[in-house]
Amino acid sequence: MCGIICYVGKDKVKPILLEGLKRLEYRGYDSAGMAVQFGGGVELYRAVGKIIELEKKVQDVELPGTCGIAHTRWATHGEPSEENAHPHRDQAENVFVIHNGIIENYHPIRKRLEKSGVRFRSQTDTEVLAHLIALSFDGDLSEAVRKTMSQIEGTFGIAVIHRQRPNEIVIARRGSPLIIGVGDGGNFAASDVSAMVRYTNQVVHLNDNELALLTADGYSISTAQAKSVTRVAETVEWQAEDAELNGFPHFMLKEIYEQPDTLLNAIRGRLEPGEGVPKLGGIIPVWERLKDCRHLVIVACGTSYYAGCVGRYVFERLTEIDVEVEIASEFRYRKLNFPPNTFIIAISQSGETADTLAAIREARRKGAQLLGIVNVVGSSISRETLAGVYCHAGPEIGVASTKIFVSQLTILTLLALLLGRHQNLSLTEGVEAIQALSALPDQIKKVLSYDNHIQAIAEKYYRCSNWLFLGRKYQYPIAQEGALKLKEISYIHAEGYAAGEMKHGPIALISPAMPTVALAPRDSMYEKMISNIQEIKSRKGPVIAIVTEGDEKVRELADEIIEVPPTLEYLYPILTVVPCQLISYYCARFLNRDIDKPRNLAKSVTVE
Ligand code: AGP
Repeated sequence: MCGIICYVGKDKVKPILLEGLKRLEYRGYDSAGMAVQFGGGVELYRAVGKIIELEKKVQDVELPGTCGIAHTRWATHGEPSEENAHPHRDQAENVFVIHNGIIENYHPIRKRLEKSGVRFRSQTDTEVLAHLIALSFDGDLSEAVRKTMSQIEGTFGIAVIHRQRPNEIVIARRGSPLIIGVGDGGNFAASDVSAMVRYTNQVVHLNDNELALLTADGYSISTAQAKSVTRVAETVEWQAEDAELNGFPHFMLKEIYEQPDTLLNAIRGRLEPGEGVPKLGGIIPVWERLKDCRHLVIVACGTSYYAGCVGRYVFERLTEIDVEVEIASEFRYRKLNFPPNTFIIAISQSGETADTLAAIREARRKGAQLLGIVNVVGSSISRETLAGVYCHAGPEIGVASTKIFVSQLTILTLLALLLGRHQNLSLTEGVEAIQALSALPDQIKKVLSYDNHIQAIAEKYYRCSNWLFLGRKYQYPIAQEGALKLKEISYIHAEGYAAGEMKHGPIALISPAMPTVALAPRDSMYEKMISNIQEIKSRKGPVIAIVTEGDEKVRELADEIIEVPPTLEYLYPILTVVPCQLISYYCARFLNRDIDKPRNLAKSVTVE
């Protein structure tokens, strides 16, 4: 998705915009641009390709302006080109606008404007905004934006400046996130906190159909109906170094190595060892209803969806609750008849995924109660759900989700344990669960210590064009997640399959050229996984097995062994996913892929 960063204040805006764009590059990047106000004029710079191309264009340009807007583009309308890059402007070059989202009705608007003599420069939907704002402008930029909002269908997060309104930025949102950053001596706006976390940790989230006027001295929020809104800033827990590489070659590897801390952050202050009952303050508002809930639906996308698939097994193990898991983009189209007191759990790192947002809005219409498991504080999903649990995992910059997946699994386990201990789960089982959870951070560190061994395995097989990941029960979603990781960062084709399905088709694929990652920890599926491994070996398929430390049986069968420490069956996914992450990472490295910014992908998919 596109990235937005703006600033107005006492400092020169050029370095702030460039710094912000670099932190947003992971959101989407086929072109970038900036518009800077100075001396009654506006200077526009745009470049195709990565941020460095724009940086080269402006590096020798003296830009003393202290008010500006900047944008990284992930093309939806019009191919990547300088003319299609944002900011876009009106014919007279008074209005400059940047936009994240999709204007659904841009085509008829464009036709009407062209008929009235307006000449368009680009193929984008965004450009209609510049012309409409210019036409509505009569000295008040906020009013011009408000009038334009009423003509637009679709989603937008926009920032606008006008030549005649120096040191003013107007931002507006509907469906695409926009956050105000309150700084000392200046104010920011961005599509993502990480773009401005270096300058401020005081943020104000804009809601849908709201706009705000930013000046050096402050901000004022109002609704599309011109009703004033008072909203105080929240403090984000993130620090600038959270969004730095800190010596790692890629954010993805840094975030894989953060997982022991991520898990500690997910359980910190939430465990009652003596009682075997976790504490989750975020669900107190709905606890009286939630504790009697007997039907749960988990909705999510991508990696978050696979976390939900593990969560279903964990809830079935620890509670008496019926759990469904649905891909959010499919959930919306189902005929939904929820039993009374149904809860929906939306799982989302960004809290802005359009499909997941649409799914929970549909569920709310049908009377379900909404919970969120989200990482970004104040994000749309966190604000549209009744209650929920934050991951507190800091920013996840790499497009491929790693640490957040482990955090999501941990939080789902805590939630299931809490509910289970108010149902039939015994004190002994509760205490056992908490002890095992508390051991996980060090156990993840143990798995990370096999990094070189895993790298060597990746080096042996990274040239293979097709991979298979197999698992059963708790490990089946890990097989799917492992396949997704490999696909999205190395571009190697991989499938994650229920191992029991092998004889129903996929076994036809087995060949010496197709490695199979077999998830075979010492759990209730162990013996069956050994049979799967034998089937594959008898057809000369290479097997990379992820097993419990000390395993001898699989060692005799598999070509490669990666060990994880012993834990409870329902906690093994938190350990077995780590070798899958590292295998994918190193395959992508050997293939020289753009690991943190894989082609065609964006960190937060805020369009459907
Ligand atoms: C995960 O590696 C992918 N980047 C993607 O599948 C992601 O999990 C999905 O888009 C959901 O994002 P969310 O958690 O922010 O909702």
